[in-house]
Amino acid sequence: MTNLKLGYLGVNSAQREEWLKIGHALGLGLANETTDDVLYFRLDEYRNRIAIHQSDQEGFAYVGWDCGSPQVLRARIAAIKAAGIDVVVESEELAAERGVCELASFHDINGFRTEFYYGAMVHNDPMHHLEPVEGHFVTADEGMGHVVYAVPDLAKTRDFYIDALDFRLTDMTRGPWLTIDFLRCNPRHHSLGLMQGRGPASFQHLMLQVETLDDVGRAYDRAEKQGIKIACTLGRHNVEKMVSFYIETPSGFDIEFGSGAIRVDDEENWSAKVYDPGSHWGHTWLRKWG
Ligand SMILES: [Fe+2]
Repeated sequence: MTNLKLGYLGVNSAQREEWLKIGHALGLGLANETTDDVLYFRLDEYRNRIAIHQSDQEGFAYVGWDCGSPQVLRARIAAIKAAGIDVVVESEELAAERGVCELASFHDINGFRTEFYYGAMVHNDPMHHLEPVEGHFVTADEGMGHVVYAVPDLAKTRDFYIDALDFRLTDMTRGPWLTIDFLRCNPRHHSLGLMQGRGPASFQHLMLQVETLDDVGRAYDRAEKQGIKIACTLGRHNVEKMVSFYIETPSGFDIEFGSGAIRVDDEENWSAKVYDPGSHWGHTWLRKWG
């Protein structure tokens, strides 16, 4: 069994000021490495968690998974190649730009640029949140959060991540309007969500988790005050029990911001379950789904 961690997300955007507003609303940190070309947000000691690349394109650019060691990186490269997918061992220059030792990349079966690495750069300096917060982001052995893709063929995509990348199926939702498989690769309930889409593949959301419910509520207040669009109101998910809300980013996807998700610490005895897609309470979508 391989433990991977969601390490970073790269985004192309022309909307630097809007992203800075999001950074303030959510209490992110700004890394010293930030330049005119790349805005680097921190969540913890790592330099590179969310990179906003100045661009005339808008949207998802890449996702990075921390393999933790050279052995795991090499094993994953071999498994992805065995699945018939080309893997590029990236240059030292690109690895340095991402702030990691060794980096490989491929495009998954839906075209999402996916990077694998080990040895990410950390800072000794404590992180300075852009706004005062009461607790930390929940990262460490759970990685930086989770990502959710909407995909045209859910079963095929799930099998690829399970077979080639050693993800495990944690839970599912099944319903007339929402079908999702939740996959884990460490104790976080899910680091990857795969949603049955109705069109081409798209990046749906990034989730960031904080320790305290108060930080969720205070971020909600700041987002509203700064005019950031709330995509979905506060609510508690049935599946991983997180209390969260969703904001719209200017780059075509949402950020879910929450607290209180359960973990999977007993790998051997976990059984995947099927839930109704509704939430326990709340989570009213303010945006209409196409
Ligand atoms: Fe989520």
